[in-house]
Amino acid sequence: MELVQKLSNARDVQKELVDIDWDNLGFSLTPTDYMYVMKCCRGEHFSDGELRRFGNIELSPSSGVLNYGQGLYEGLKAYRKKDGNILLFRPEENAMRIQRGADRMCMPCPPVQQFVEAVKATVLANHRWIPPAGKGSLYIRPLLMGSGAVLGLAPAPEYTFLIYVSPVGNYFKEGLAPINLLVEAEIHRATPGGTGGIKCIGNYAAVLKAQAAAKAKDFTDVLYLDSIRKKYLEEVSSCNVFVVKDNVISTPAVEGTILPGITRKSIMDVARSQGFKVEERLIAVDELLEADEVFCTGTAVVVSPGELYGNNGVGPVSQQVYSTLINLQMGLTEDTMGWTLEL
Ligand code: COI
Repeated sequence: MELVQKLSNARDVQKELVDIDWDNLGFSLTPTDYMYVMKCCRGEHFSDGELRRFGNIELSPSSGVLNYGQGLYEGLKAYRKKDGNILLFRPEENAMRIQRGADRMCMPCPPVQQFVEAVKATVLANHRWIPPAGKGSLYIRPLLMGSGAVLGLAPAPEYTFLIYVSPVGNYFKEGLAPINLLVEAEIHRATPGGTGGIKCIGNYAAVLKAQAAAKAKDFTDVLYLDSIRKKYLEEVSSCNVFVVKDNVISTPAVEGTILPGITRKSIMDVARSQGFKVEERLIAVDELLEADEVFCTGTAVVVSPGELYGNNGVGPVSQQVYSTLINLQMGLTEDTMGWTLEL
């Protein structure tokens, strides 16, 4: 708490500006000023963390994360409002999701309040990197990893929780234009009983090959199908998927192989509040042929229209739910959902 207060005061006096091209931000790393680091040993609590200058970290070659992939990450964003204040979007949801992931990966995890305070401290310490209103956002990347040394397969004896941030613009180079997705039936992102439902680092390494092959054929990204029947939509490499037919919005049900996206959940709530029928269910790949609209959701992508089998781009439903959500996230409309946290 004290750290956050000190940083909040510092924000008023620190006038130093960042010299970057805010109009051309993509989704790549811009090193910022500080990262947040805290550690804990198995069976203990995370002690108070600290802000350090952003930079490389030291890890044992034998650490759990490097050898056995014992690692999770999160992603959330901070937006600068027109009045200069900063808005975080549902950070407690990320805090709860990483706890579920930590349980699956046999890792200790900071409690919700400690996670949210750490995010606030990191954002405030790097506030000069938050793009001006309307120019993008500050992407916040919390990591939880087994940093202690192991040799035999076992949970690591020590864990590191780290947060770094980077200013970002659109995730896909298409911006808000439709992305072109390749449906992939042979390489799978997740399997029942596996880790598809949590944000473990291995889920993302596992799709790189399919993604590279799709890019080589000029597709933007890959839409994966379920690994058993090879028939039902799961998700895209970096985001969830929705289809719209006759004003009914459907998305694959989260049953262990699909990441429970915070943007996914928020879009469903926004759509329901606007009178749309929203279904979470099995969606057969054939339904793409008939869909009026397809769109993807995620923290990084926000809402991105998809182009599949000729359904034509940015449809009215995708546009409506996107505008409602982004305006709320950027503080342009009143947050009637109570989702934003103002710093
Ligand atoms: C996010 O949207 O925050 C993600 O974690 C996806 C990542 C590949 C950028």
